[in-house]
Amino acid sequence: MKLIDPIVRFHDELQQIRRDIHAHPELCYDERRTADLIAHKLTEWGIPILRGMGKTGVVGVIRNGDSPRAIGLRADMDALPMQEANTFSHTSRHAGCMHACGHDGHTAMLLGAARYLSQHRHFDGTVYLIFQPAEEVGAGAKRMMDDGLFSQCPMDAVFGMHNWPGLAVGTFGVTAGPMMASSNEFEVIVKGKGAHAAQPHKGIDPVMVAIQIAQGWQTIISRNKSPLDAGVLSVTQIHSGSATNVIPDEARLIGTVRTFRPEVLDLIESRMRAMAENMASAFDAQLEFKFERLYPALVNHPKETAIAVDVMQEIAGDAQVNAAVEPTMGAEDFAFMLQEKPGCYVFIGNGEGDHRSAGHGLGPCNLHNPSYDFNDALLPLGATYWVRLAERCLAPA
Ligand code: NI
Repeated sequence: MKLIDPIVRFHDELQQIRRDIHAHPELCYDERRTADLIAHKLTEWGIPILRGMGKTGVVGVIRNGDSPRAIGLRADMDALPMQEANTFSHTSRHAGCMHACGHDGHTAMLLGAARYLSQHRHFDGTVYLIFQPAEEVGAGAKRMMDDGLFSQCPMDAVFGMHNWPGLAVGTFGVTAGPMMASSNEFEVIVKGKGAHAAQPHKGIDPVMVAIQIAQGWQTIISRNKSPLDAGVLSVTQIHSGSATNVIPDEARLIGTVRTFRPEVLDLIESRMRAMAENMASAFDAQLEFKFERLYPALVNHPKETAIAVDVMQEIAGDAQVNAAVEPTMGAEDFAFMLQEKPGCYVFIGNGEGDHRSAGHGLGPCNLHNPSYDFNDALLPLGATYWVRLAERCLAPA
């Protein structure tokens, strides 16, 4: 492992920063303390900052030399609305709010890189350090772009990184092309006609129609799309009724659709609508169909992925980098940035959970689990990756 010595020497302070952020988690667009802490550290290290993009977003700007070349390195800052089960000293001080996705660690790794890059300028060009809000649900990446991220900070490529439980510490995973799925939500309201449950012939039962629709939709996945294309359709909520002896007026179906390819998403959405409308009409019910596309699929660009793989291999060793990691149907709003700029998003191994102190809560060290914790052992590795990547992309001519 070829870690950068000054970053390794800074490990204790990075860990202290990471744990401080972990203890003070903040939700979607409310990352004020976190943003202040980042701004304070960057300023302390002499790095100019831009604030206000994406409401709480912070961008550090490190320029060196005359080259117009520039890259962006991005970390996310937000936590999740869930109760932490850990009992260690840096456990969340905010009830019902927790850093269960490791964005505390992502922020700390990028801060580690920022400090080194500002003090050892072995590059020619500009590095933008992008600390974005609201990755989990608020599309903070998109909002920073809407607020002028790429016009105020023109860059040639942009890079992201997420810790990945289950991948060993010291290893990386990435793949060119689609690596994470698009995330989309639907809500369907079946409108029937309420009646006494003992006189079903006097009403139109929306519950039966909703069940038919939910069953029928699964054939879109198994019969309509090509078996070679990935796609998930999960009905996660069915709401209807309030009494055992009343046929309700309405039933609601809510859930998520995930795909890698937009063509597959178009197919699933249109088939869902057609099937639901026709099913409702077959039963004399009416239908309201809402489908919202939230995050697009995350698609890594080949050239930037090759650079990232090369840099990771140089630091961690060839065998420690899986350059054809299995994609996930999880979603990530960094996908918006990769739609506008070339770039690459990588997974950095967070281990199996051995790093957690005794007394952690039940459950594995999975993302979004109440006993999850970011593994501090990978702080210098992640920071080293950011630095070497910047030095590679902006190598002096
Ligand atoms: Ni995350």
